Amino acid sequence: MAGGGRRTGPSPARLALMVLLLAAAVAAEAKVVHVEEPHRRSMLANGLGSAPPMGWNSWNHFQCDGNGEVVIRETADALVSTGLAALGYKYVNIDDCWAEPKRDAMGNLVANTNTFPHGIKALADYVHSKGLKLGIYSDAGFQTCAKVQPGSLGHEEQDAKTFAAWGVDYLKYDNCNNGDLKPLERYPEMSKALMKAGRPIYFSLCECDRSYSWFRGDMHPARWGAAYGNSWRTTNDIADTWESMIATADQNEVWAEYARPGGWNDPDMLEVGNGGMKNNEYVVHFSLWAISKAPLIIGCDVRHMPQETYDILANKEVIAVNQDPLGVQAKKVRMEGSSEIWAAPLSDYRTAVVLLNRHATDEATITARWDDIGLPAGTAVEARDLWLHKTLDTAFTDKMAFDVAARSCRMFVLKSRLR
Ligand code: GLA
Repeated sequence: MAGGGRRTGPSPARLALMVLLLAAAVAAEAKVVHVEEPHRRSMLANGLGSAPPMGWNSWNHFQCDGNGEVVIRETADALVSTGLAALGYKYVNIDDCWAEPKRDAMGNLVANTNTFPHGIKALADYVHSKGLKLGIYSDAGFQTCAKVQPGSLGHEEQDAKTFAAWGVDYLKYDNCNNGDLKPLERYPEMSKALMKAGRPIYFSLCECDRSYSWFRGDMHPARWGAAYGNSWRTTNDIADTWESMIATADQNEVWAEYARPGGWNDPDMLEVGNGGMKNNEYVVHFSLWAISKAPLIIGCDVRHMPQETYDILANKEVIAVNQDPLGVQAKKVRMEGSSEIWAAPLSDYRTAVVLLNRHATDEATITARWDDIGLPAGTAVEARDLWLHKTLDTAFTDKMAFDVAARSCRMFVLKSRLR
């Protein structure tokens, strides 16, 4: 209503009151932020996991049957002699089936006397003497997943103290046989117990309850894991097949924004070298885990590794993407049919990119556009190919296109030429 119509807005006095109320509300809001800021979001302040953990775990290759102190000791030796330890693979982790089926008279967990006859303390001493760290496995239930040993539910403090006394450096804590108690009734207890145990122990939450209920609701471990652990499983168990691996990577990607230094999404351990996938598929597996800032926990028998397996696991440049101090997990920034582009910012204004062709048989030309990967238009970029170990001769501006073979990827680190 232009011109001399009746004014319908608030009177000046009312307007002043509204401004005052608004200012008070803003101040109250600011106060809340101010009050909350100094508080830690996390119960777990163990200073670990500033980068995703790297190491080895017995499960994917040995499951229960091959798990024993000889394998663990020889694996520690092999990590050192192959040079993998020097590249950062320092955790040697014992998975399920390491303990006697019953606790002792004092209620303590006891190492299986057949497979770990010298006990865990002696093993930890050995592993430490090699400059490595020892990990162990338990469960936030009455029994572990393989149901041959007790879980830690109700014994959290006692078990955390036992692990600390043995010299354990890493705890993978599973979620089987839990009497339907909610994860948040069980995981924080162990987190508290570890904090009190007197030794920094990396806390790996393995909370995948297999009913998929957490896929639907707000209880997914990515939503609460950072408060209690250094990493949290985001998926069900991986299998040594292309289909399982790629589906696992997809499920994990959804939670990308929850990862950060000190707390990582965990899409399960590596299958590289276990024989179920082709070499190019394992290259995709390792590239996606690295760019996703996933824990790099080797799952093959490193005592008997073919060169091509070693060459994947020992790719320093890919490892450096995983361990980059910025700690930002990659996202899929474009999908076109079976062609995908995954990208993540790195420290020093660099960008990591994976061009992934998921097609089972056909080669594809995949184009990464700056617009998709977050680079300013017009930026001239130098590209380092992390699998060819080569800086490409030509600079790229606004996009780069490559032919990528079936079920294969190319992985690059990009940096601006102007710098
Ligand atoms: C669960 C875990 C696996 C392994 C087994 C052991 O399935 O997800 O990684 O630890 O338990 O029983």
